[in-house]
Amino acid sequence: MVSENKKDSERVDLNDPKLTRFDIYKEALRKDDIEILHYEPRFPTPGTKEEKRMERIVAMMFVLAGLFALGFVAVMAFWPWEYPGEVTGWDAWFKWQTPMLGITLGLSLAFFGIGILTWAKKLLPVEEFVQDRHDGGSSMEDRKLAEATIYNMTEDIGLKRRPLLKKAFLFGAAPLGLAAVAPLGGLIKDPGDSLTKTGFHPDHNDGQPVRLMNMDGSQLRPDMVSVGGQVTAFPAIPGGATNKYANSSTLLIHLRDDDAAELRENLYPMYRDADAVWGNFVAYSKICTHVGCPASLYEQHTHRLLCPCHQSQFNVVDNAAPVFGPAARHLPMLPISVDEEGYFYATQDYLIPVGPAYWNRPSLPEEVEE
Ligand code: FES
Repeated sequence: MVSENKKDSERVDLNDPKLTRFDIYKEALRKDDIEILHYEPRFPTPGTKEEKRMERIVAMMFVLAGLFALGFVAVMAFWPWEYPGEVTGWDAWFKWQTPMLGITLGLSLAFFGIGILTWAKKLLPVEEFVQDRHDGGSSMEDRKLAEATIYNMTEDIGLKRRPLLKKAFLFGAAPLGLAAVAPLGGLIKDPGDSLTKTGFHPDHNDGQPVRLMNMDGSQLRPDMVSVGGQVTAFPAIPGGATNKYANSSTLLIHLRDDDAAELRENLYPMYRDADAVWGNFVAYSKICTHVGCPASLYEQHTHRLLCPCHQSQFNVVDNAAPVFGPAARHLPMLPISVDEEGYFYATQDYLIPVGPAYWNRPSLPEEVEE
């Protein structure tokens, strides 16, 4: 600890015109009970070849950071991202949009970080300080000293006498800022009816009702699902089981007699009016209303459907109401029936949007009722 006497003996007159900025800086540190154990500029003679070489390396890092950040913005704006169906070759480049976003942003941040670290490790002075702890507010004198400290640090960083680094830093930082706001551009596009329409909408089948099919394309009949069992169903349209209709994944459940009776009693009028349940079969959206994982673990004894991601549970015999976990919405029900050829079909699209909540989605079934 620095004694008071020692502190007084070292005190300097801040109005002394002979004081250098470093003297004031030292005084600022002393006032703050900071002792300089070691202070040594990396390059005592400014402008040496070695210093210039190091500057160029740091500048290169910032330039690369800027180029990769611009690459990120370019991928965001121009890389194909829409699912065009089953394709190969050049048409399958949309699959690389997300990895390319990650690669370009990751490299940009990495080069920016390496640039900052190299600057600190190879260009800034080597310094070692110790400081005593103390309390209280700052006097005007202290503020003046703090100002000198900041100026001294700016001097040490060398932005003034290293214009190359200044420009390279700005070149790296500006596109990174752009990369941070570019994803907001995705909010500008109107999503149209993509949030409210699934592959079960008749529009996808020339106005005709859409049948339910397995992943392998075989169309579903009642005898294909045993009592208490369930199967994942997709719209029987071209590409119906692909990512193009990722919001259409549906769980077709064959309830036991007493469970089916209980569900019929509990049915919301909107589902009753739509004749949504066929026999002992009910179809719910498989997309968890929390954040969209597949909710597909059906426990027939408790008639609960469990989402494995965050353990939300839905009561299958009560309109798939959420009864546990973070999900707050019911799983929407798909109105189904069986046609004259014995295959399941959707009598209409989902009555409420599938998936997690969003700002202007129609409400929960009971709120729709109100
Ligand atoms: S996504 Fe289902 S509980 Fe979180």
